[in-house]
Amino acid sequence: MAIEKVGVVGCGLMGSGIAQIAAQAGCTVVVREVSEERLNKGLASIEKSLNKFVEKGTLSAPDRDAARGRLRGTTKLEDLKDSDLVVEAIIEQLPDKRELYAALDKICPKNTIFASNTSSLSITEMAFMTARPERFIGLHFFNPVPLMKLVEVIRTIATDPKVYEDAVAFAGRVGKVPVRTSDRTGFIVNRLLVPYLLDAVRVLEDGVASIEDIDNSMKLGCGYPMGPLTLLDFVGNDTTYYIANIMFDEFKEARFAPPPLLKRMVLAGWNGRKAGRGFYDYSDPAKPRAIQLT
Ligand code: CAA
Repeated sequence: MAIEKVGVVGCGLMGSGIAQIAAQAGCTVVVREVSEERLNKGLASIEKSLNKFVEKGTLSAPDRDAARGRLRGTTKLEDLKDSDLVVEAIIEQLPDKRELYAALDKICPKNTIFASNTSSLSITEMAFMTARPERFIGLHFFNPVPLMKLVEVIRTIATDPKVYEDAVAFAGRVGKVPVRTSDRTGFIVNRLLVPYLLDAVRVLEDGVASIEDIDNSMKLGCGYPMGPLTLLDFVGNDTTYYIANIMFDEFKEARFAPPPLLKRMVLAGWNGRKAGRGFYDYSDPAKPRAIQLT
C-alpha cells in the first residue's frame, strides 16, 4: 500500500519536522495540535525551516510553495480520518498516548497504519492499546528532523510484515535512510548514544576534564558534529534523563543509570538550550558559555 495521506499528531519539535518532510516529499499532510497557539508555533517553525532551505538553494521556491499547499494544520483529531498513516509525536506519557490511540481507533478506518515516534516507550505496549496491533509500528525520527537522515523503523512481535515494508518504503520516500529494528527500549541509536552521553556527565562529575574539553575531545578527536554535553543541551537534559530511566528499568544495567549531576540539573530545571541553561548558558545563543558545575 502506498502511503499518500499522512496525519501527524503533535506539532512540536518532532511533529512539525515530520509533517514538513512528508509534505516536501509529496504527501498530503494534516498535522494536529491541541491548541491554536501551539499549532501556530509549530507551523511557524516549518515555515522557517522551508525558507532556510530555499535560502540555501536546496529547495526551490515553487517546491516550497507546493509543500506548503499540501500541509494543513488543525486542532481537530477528526481531520485525520482519511489518513493512510498517522504518526504520533505527542508527549512521552503512556496515559496521554492511551487516550489518543483510543480516539484515533474510532476515527480512522481499519486499514490506517499507526506509528509512534517515541524514543523510549514500548511500541508493543502502545500497539496493544489499539484494536489494530498488527498495523502498528515505530517510526523514530531524529532532531532536527528536516536535516537528520535516519529513521528507525520498529516492528513488534505482532506487526504485519506487509505493514512493516510499507513503513520502510515510506521512510525512504520522505528522504530518509530507514534502519530496521525490533522493539527493545532505545532501539539502535539510543541504546548506543545514551550510555555515551551519561558517561560524558560522569567524566565531568569525576573532575577528569572541563565541559569545553570534553566536548572538543569528541568533536575534534572523533569527528562528531557536536560534543556530548552540547548534544545533551540540544536534546534536553530532561529528555535524556527520562529515556535513561526507562532504559535502566528495562535492562537493569548500570550504564543506563543517570548520574547524580544530570538528575540535579533536571531538578534545577537546567534542561539545556530550550531552558536557556544546561551545561552551557545560552543568554547569547550565538555564543554559549560553559557553566561551572563541579
Ligand atoms: N531546517 C532547515 N535548516 C536548518 C534546521 C532546520 N530545522 N536546523 C538547522 N538548520 C540549518 C542551520 O540554519 C544552518 O544553516 P547555515 O549553514 O546557513 O547557518 C545549517 O542547518 C547548519 O546548522 P548549524 O550551523 O547550526 O550547525 P551544524 O553544521 O552543526 O549542523 C546539526 C547542525 C545538523 C544539528 C549538527 O550539529 C548535528 O548533526 N548535530 C548532532 C545532532 C544529533 O545528534 N541529533 C540526534 C539527537 S538524538 C535524537 O534526536 C533522538 C532521541 O531519541 C533523543
